[in-house]
Amino acid sequence: MRQGMMIVAALAGLMGAGAVMAGPDTQPGRYTAEQAAHGAQVYAQACAMCHKADLAGDFDTPALVGRFARNWAGGDLASLAGYLHRAMPAFAPGSLSAADNIAIVAYLLQANGEPAGPRPLPEDPAALKAMRFKP
Ligand code: HEC
Repeated sequence: MRQGMMIVAALAGLMGAGAVMAGPDTQPGRYTAEQAAHGAQVYAQACAMCHKADLAGDFDTPALVGRFARNWAGGDLASLAGYLHRAMPAFAPGSLSAADNIAIVAYLLQANGEPAGPRPLPEDPAALKAMRFKP
């Protein structure tokens, strides 16, 4: 878990950088219900065996709800999508397609209480950079 702690520390640094950006988009309804439903499918296949079906994690895998949302509050979605793309699933990092990756971000927004809306979450990193996980 030492390596995990270092990643968490690095993420905290990224979030600090995100927090100084001007006017990030924190409006709800930034992903579609279809994206989240697809993300839930990918999650069930590639993530749930470690992070658990209820996203609560266990003693050596962090939860992706609750404390997770507080940790990521203010963090931008490009950082989250980039981390998922680089590091997850832990047994095969980088194996998710761009569309699957963004669908999982949509699913994580939904699982953390954000309602779906008419706008699809974009894959473009520059657009994601201007969006925060939570206000
Ligand atoms: C083999 C087990 C395993 C699988 C499968 C896995 N993860 Fe992880 N995940 C971990 C561990 C362990 C960590 C803690 C960081 C570390 O040690 O690398 C982590 C960390 C994370 C984090 C950062 C949590 C935080 O508090 O910032 C996210 C987000 C995440 N995983 C999402 C996913 C998603 C989405 C998938 C599926 C695509 C996935 N993980 C698949 C084990 C796993």
